[in-house]
Amino acid sequence: MSLQQRYAAGDAPAAILHHPVIDALLQHRSIRRFDSARPLPEGLVETLVAAAQSAATSSNLQSWSVIAVTDPDRRARLAALAGGQGFVAEAPLFLVWVADLSRNRALGAAQGRALAGLDYLESFMVAAIDAALAAQNAAIAAEALGLGTCYIGALRNHPEPVAQAVNLPPGAMGLFGMAIGWPVPGPHSAVKPRLPQSVVLHHETYRAGPVDAAAVARYDAAMEEFSRRVGQGSQPWLPRMLARLADAAALSGRDRMRAALTALGFGLK
Ligand SMILES: Cc1cc2nc3c(=O)[nH]c(=O)nc-3n(C[C@H](O)[C@H](O)[C@H](O)COP(=O)(O)O)c2cc1C
Repeated sequence: MSLQQRYAAGDAPAAILHHPVIDALLQHRSIRRFDSARPLPEGLVETLVAAAQSAATSSNLQSWSVIAVTDPDRRARLAALAGGQGFVAEAPLFLVWVADLSRNRALGAAQGRALAGLDYLESFMVAAIDAALAAQNAAIAAEALGLGTCYIGALRNHPEPVAQAVNLPPGAMGLFGMAIGWPVPGPHSAVKPRLPQSVVLHHETYRAGPVDAAAVARYDAAMEEFSRRVGQGSQPWLPRMLARLADAAALSGRDRMRAALTALGFGLK
């Protein structure tokens, strides 16, 4: 069922392998309405972090941290910094996922080692990739418990104030947040379609030539139908993608990411 919802009509793969974990993955949807009155289960944060730490990590460096924010004032501050998205403040738990080279730096310093490797873009990429893998494990764990999640990339609109709000040391950066809470059910929490596999999947080598316009058109139609169904008007995908990437202004402050990362103590050589 969720496979059919995941793709435009006729674009779902004919057959996939089934397993409860795969079925759960196919049911993912971002949740933006939370029942703020319903308390979260005891031990939730520790459970999510155990799931997160179980993700693979480059060279076992584990160069990420996560900050569990429950204080309503701090949540409201972070929501304001993240483009004023109200539901962020309504979620009882907000996780800030951090690319964290500060721990490696500190452990090196304690051994009298400068760790010049940390000053390269590669080290930032390692930290960002590992943090994303960890976060996704936590999201899957939360969803398995029936909770809803929404990643908050808008946290990067203001990297330095975010770092200040959660007291990050130099060499640490809040990559994205994650709002977590009990979902308010309704049509708004439907499974959102994705591009056909024929567009994203290549075999052996990258397929040359133009992107399959007919496949994208089918996806546009599916997204239009989806957005109508969830009460967001009629929004095809292509115009939204084009607007989101149109120019520096469309990046909502994230056009100065290199400067922000430099200010936060990353080398990026
Ligand atoms: C790194 C990342 C950052 C995101 N940032 C935001 C955000 O700031 N606000 C928001 O409402 N959704 C955000 N999202 C959620 C995406 O909009 C969502 O995943 C996408 O539209 C697909 O919908 P789905 O997750 O319901 O399948 C983010 C997702 C990711 C992976």
